[in-house]
Amino acid sequence: MSDKTNNQTLTLNTYEQMAQHYIDRTPTSIDGDYKQYLDNFLASVSKDAKILEIGSAVGTDADYIESKGYGVTRTDVVNAFLQYQRNKGKCISRFNVLEDRLHQYFDLIIASAVFLHFDLQQFDQAVVNVKNHLEKNGHFALAVKKGRGEEYTSEKMESPRYFRYWTEPELATRLHNNGFSADIATGSDNKWLYCLATLNDSQ
Ligand SMILES: C[S@@+](CC[C@H](N)C(=O)[O-])C[C@H]1O[C@@H](n2cnc3c(N)ncnc32)[C@H](O)[C@@H]1O
Repeated sequence: MSDKTNNQTLTLNTYEQMAQHYIDRTPTSIDGDYKQYLDNFLASVSKDAKILEIGSAVGTDADYIESKGYGVTRTDVVNAFLQYQRNKGKCISRFNVLEDRLHQYFDLIIASAVFLHFDLQQFDQAVVNVKNHLEKNGHFALAVKKGRGEEYTSEKMESPRYFRYWTEPELATRLHNNGFSADIATGSDNKWLYCLATLNDSQ
């Protein structure tokens, strides 16, 4: 169903054009099991760890991570989000995980609600690029929506975005096949999968 080239074009265009909807409609508090997930993956690295955030958007997670005493490299691919964070005085770089290379290595890479916009081929492509930016035994924390299948929906943004939904075994297998061990928890709302994946020794 997903058009291999257009699902990203359409989704990124929606974020670009309708960014203010996302800014207005996304909660800025970190609590509940999402906070537990963030605390859990932060506990897997030391305070001087090199952390990369992919798809930082308005920077809520990065702000929380910094408030806990860690440094984080903020990135996004949507100009409206880059501008929003720069206007707040934040340092943020343009990075498309499907295309770009940073030539830096990180102990922990975070992508919350980002890989849910990728079809299977793009998911693998992005995971390989994450691997290319990870230190040995590095960690990859990702949150995706639980479910089956894929769809375009205009919910929340009033313009279409592509989503692919994941089951826990499917996500674990996909990450395993890409060289990761995955620890996955289902959110208490039963809508999200919170995953902390660790790059295996052999990688
Ligand atoms: C649902 S938002 C999540 C934002 C933020 N991580 C959060 O949890 O609130 C999806 C984010 O993924 C980013 N994104 C989508 N495709 C991307 C790509 N190919 N490379 C990097 N970021 C991408 C979007 O720009 C947007 O910031």
